[in-house]
Parts: sequence; structure tokens; C-alpha cells
Amino acid sequence: MDRVWPIFQPIFSGKWPRKTVQVLIAAISWVVFLVLDFLDIVLCVFFRIVDEYIEGNAKECYCHSRGEKRESEGSETLRGRKNLLREMGFLGFPRKLEGLKENGGGKVVVANRWSDCGCETCVSWMNNGDQRLHVIVKEPSKATFEYGCSGNSTENVIFLHGFLSSSSLWTELVFPYLSESTNRNYRLFAVDLLGFGRSPKPRDCLYTLRDHMEMIEKSVIGPNDLGSFHLVAHSMGSVIALALAAKYSKSVKSITLIAPPYFPSPRGDASLTALGRFAERKIWPPLLFGSAFMSWYEHLSRCVCFIICRNHRAWEWILKLLARKRDLHFLVMDLTRHTHQSAWHSMHNVLCGGAKSMDEYLDVLNGSEAKVHIMHGTRDQLVPPECSFSIKMKVPRAQLNILPDSDHITVMLDREKNFTQDLERIWASISS
Ligand SMILES: *[C@@H]1O[C@H](CO)[C@@H](O)[C@H](O)[C@H]1NC(C)=O
Ligand SMILES: *[C@@H]1O[C@H](CO)[C@@H](O)[C@H](O)[C@H]1NC(C)=O
Ligand SMILES: *[C@@H]1O[C@H](CO)[C@@H](O)[C@H](O)[C@H]1NC(C)=O
Repeated sequence: MDRVWPIFQPIFSGKWPRKTVQVLIAAISWVVFLVLDFLDIVLCVFFRIVDEYIEGNAKECYCHSRGEKRESEGSETLRGRKNLLREMGFLGFPRKLEGLKENGGGKVVVANRWSDCGCETCVSWMNNGDQRLHVIVKEPSKATFEYGCSGNSTENVIFLHGFLSSSSLWTELVFPYLSESTNRNYRLFAVDLLGFGRSPKPRDCLYTLRDHMEMIEKSVIGPNDLGSFHLVAHSMGSVIALALAAKYSKSVKSITLIAPPYFPSPRGDASLTALGRFAERKIWPPLLFGSAFMSWYEHLSRCVCFIICRNHRAWEWILKLLARKRDLHFLVMDLTRHTHQSAWHSMHNVLCGGAKSMDEYLDVLNGSEAKVHIMHGTRDQLVPPECSFSIKMKVPRAQLNILPDSDHITVMLDREKNFTQDLERIWASISS
């Protein structure tokens, strides 16, 4: 990562005193984020005008209901984010939302927003009538039926991916490396979460934890009548997995969390603590800056989605050309398979909003029979390994696997075989 910014080398290579560097970063960060605060206000006005012009109905944003202690479904981080300029009363635009709502009722709602991609893959969910999640199911191989009576019953595993990812995470990193006996005895469900991959991305949904859970129930647990299952989840998926494990505490046989975000907050402001931790307003390290940029600025992040996601086909073409490859890495492709609505709200309502309920879920898990495994890379910059230690404090019987030199992704990537074997061992330890 340092190689990307050679001009900053002297600053970050330790030639300057640590204290000076920290003060410098803090000062630059303050200025940069002040500029971003300003840009977000400008874009708020811009998007309102363009939305009204194109769609005849500007969608409510979270800029204008700041500070209101309105009881609503969404996470408090949506309204509680601070914009320095707005705090100073600078550029406060009053908004006549009521009028818009009245008008909105009679308008024809276009299928996807003008700022979202309308390509065939992105809107494929609109064509099939039932709005279920896109799920890749790997059925146990035929041999199971022959041996069916010999006692081995099929086990189910549900895989939940993290933010800006999809079921490919599992179909690429786990499915090809499964052993013969797993292929015979396990039914695997790799889910595209609501708003990601090829799953529905409704524009009026708030993508709350409850929305995500209901869709998984409707698309996987219900239709397949799963009496028992294992859960495997990466990053943001862990929050949903823990919610499921709490609700189906009798059915979950094992839960494997990979880099789970859990930020205990004794003061009871879990959502804002979570936001402050994984999206700290700092320009360094770059990953943190990217994360802060995308989670503090509703309109700037919409701009990024507009430029990248809406034009993902063009970007993919350019990247393929530059890399001289026929196929792009699935992780790169997955980065664009969402809408601003789905990513922005999942970030706030699941990652931050869900943080409020994590203690409750972990208490239920602690009291349940399910096996609990956690994997975390020591070099994870997005979700620090302390998160996993904190879970271990809440659920002492959890098995912790800390991987040196792994980060948020390489905790699975580049060790696919070992990772898959780890999972198989976890599942087998229950059935035997
Ligand atoms: C049945 O399960 C056991 C233990 O999981 C495994 O060793 C064996 O290979 C399985 N038998 C078949 C026919 O899949
Ligand atoms: C978790 O469960 C164990 C055993 O049931 C119990 O002794 C312990 O107090 C619980 N831990 C917490 C943090 O609730
Ligand atoms: C995978 O596991 C084997 C043996 O268990 C070990 O020798 C090897 O270093 C591991 N590979 C990785 C990439 O962790």
C-alpha cells in the first residue's frame, strides 16, 4: 500500500518523529474532511435538482433531518453523522418534503434510478416475478441418494458474504476445494445478500438487518425447510449471521465468523462507535480513508456509485484492456454489483445499526449449543482483530483462529485449500 504513495514515503517510513506525523495527519485530515463536508452539501443540491428534473420526485436524503431524534427504522448514524459546515449553520437548505411526497404518489416510479446501472445483469431481478435472493445451491452429489439409507443425512450450510461482495466469494474460494465426502453429504447455499450481486435491489428499501434476514428466510430457510444448518459469514455477513443464529438458536449447529465487526460500546452508542471505528475520519491509511469517504458522505458516495457502478461495463472493459486479461478477478467485479441505495443503507443499517443488537445476539449465542469459530487476520485494517477477541470475551467457548500476516481478504484468499479444510473440520466436528 505504501508503494502507491511514494511521495509520502519520508513521512510514513519513520524518518519523522511519530508525534509530528500524527499531528500532521490529523491536521490534513481535518482540512480534507472539511472540504468533503462542503462538497457533500453542494452535491446534495445538485442531486436534488437533477432527481427532480429526471424523475420528477427527489428522494429524501439524510442531510435535512440531522439531529432530529426521530424514531425510525434506520441506524442513528444516518442522521447523527456530523458535517462541520452544517453544524456551523452554513448553507442550511430548508426542504419541503411534504409537498414532494404528495406529488410523488401519483407519479410513475421508474424501475431503477437514473444514477443506477440498467444493464441486463444488474436488473435481471426485475424480470422474474418473485423477488427472492439469488442463491447458488450446491446439492449433494448423486451418491448421497444411493447411500441415503445408510445413515448419513445431508447437512446444510448457509454462506453469507460481506460488504460489496457476492456469492462468488464462496463459489470461487470454497466450492472448488471441497473434499469428496463433503460433496456427497452437504447441501451448500451461497447467498447474494439483498442489494448485492444478482439479488433484488429495490429502490425504496432501507436494507435494515430485518430486511436482510427476512429475505434469507424467504429465499433459503423457508423454501428448503431447513431444520438445521451451519452458518459461515465474512465481515458484514457476520452481523446477519449472528442475528440468524439468535433467532434460530435451536437450528444452528455451527457458526463460523470471518473477520466479524464487533465494537463493544459500554456507553450505549454502539452505532456511532462502530462508524467511528471502521470509518474514522482520517486520510491515512488509504483504506480507512476510502471507508470514511463512502460512509460519511451520502452524496459523494452516490457520485462514486454513479461513476463506477453505473458504468461498470465500461470500467471492466478498460481494466481488461489494461491488464491484458480476458476475465477480471471476481472480487473486482463484485465491487460494482450494488446500487447506492443498497450499499449506503446496508453500511449504515447493518454494520452500524446492527451493532446495537450485537451484545444481545452474542448473549443468546453464548447460551446456545452451536459451535462457534472465529477467524481473523492480524493485519486486517478494516476490522481490527480486537473485534474477535471481544467476541471471545462474550462467548468464551468460541474457538479463535488468529492468522498472522493475513488481512481482511487474505484471511481466505490465497489459502483457499486450508480455509476450506478448516471449514470442513468445523462442520465434521459436530456431525461426528
Ligand atoms: C458418512 O459420514 C462419515 C462421517 O462424516 C464419512 O466418513 C463417510 O464417508 C460418509 N459416508 C458416505 C457414504 O458419504
Ligand atoms: C457464557 O456462558 C457461560 C456458560 O454457560 C457462562 O458461565 C458465562 O457467564 C457466559 N458469559 C457471558 C459473558 O454471558
Ligand atoms: C496449509 O496447511 C499446511 C498444512 O496444514 C501448511 O503446511 C501450509 O503452510 C498451509 N498453507 C497456508 C497458505 O497457510
